[in-house]
Amino acid sequence: MPERSPTVDPERLPRHVAIILDGNGRWANARGLHRTAGHAQGEPALFDVVHGALELGLEWLTVFTFSTENWNRDADEVAFLMEFNVDLLERRRDELDDLGVRVIFIGDHDDPRIPPAVLDRMRIAEEQTADNIRLTMVYAFNYGGRIEIAHAARRIAAAAASGALDPADVDESSVAARLYLPEMPDPDLLIRTSGEQRISNFLLWQAAYTEFVFTPVLWPDFDRAELARCIAEYQARDRRFGGAIDGI
Ligand code: IPE
Ligand code: MG
Repeated sequence: MPERSPTVDPERLPRHVAIILDGNGRWANARGLHRTAGHAQGEPALFDVVHGALELGLEWLTVFTFSTENWNRDADEVAFLMEFNVDLLERRRDELDDLGVRVIFIGDHDDPRIPPAVLDRMRIAEEQTADNIRLTMVYAFNYGGRIEIAHAARRIAAAAASGALDPADVDESSVAARLYLPEMPDPDLLIRTSGEQRISNFLLWQAAYTEFVFTPVLWPDFDRAELARCIAEYQARDRRFGGAIDGI
């Protein structure tokens, strides 16, 4: 197993790293393969990153595996992604459990387009790994940041309509408490692969002060060494959270 990258300072690790996995289709296209071959090749990349996260000692790792916009892709690709995610969970659940990884899903899981078998596998993986404490791996599946915030607003409106909440008391914490996973800390670092430089409706609320690192590496070529490079780039930044630059 490779040594921890010397460029990462273990004292200043990001607590939560979120990743927009991108470039699977281009990886496949460059090899004359079907786009779905790129998704399949994303699996070893994902698990190498999980091992890298464990070696480094990250607490939270969130991956964007299916967005609410991904339904717009060809039906065969959508069907592949649904099936692939079930299959992946089935095959890797015990491995993740043995590694001490807690698996949690966020997203719109009331969407009737998600096959019940997929939802079942998600619940089984969550239940089996619920007591693990080394690393929490959040799968953003059928996730969209805007719909997450809209759901929170809907719950706030319902609480106000029932008289349980005074509208004058609605503040940032009222929204944060009604997101999919309120206990999840905001990501310190968000990585997007494949050279694209957008947030694409990912963790809109939570990324208010997140550092973004964009890498040209296509997701199937990403690995723990590239994760370490992204973290080193993050560690070279000066996070001020809206404050002034020291000494100026
Ligand atoms: C990301 O790779 C995988 C998912 C969003 C499921 P893409 O499928 O978006 O790959 P490109 O952007 O077409 O190369
Ligand atoms: Mg893409």
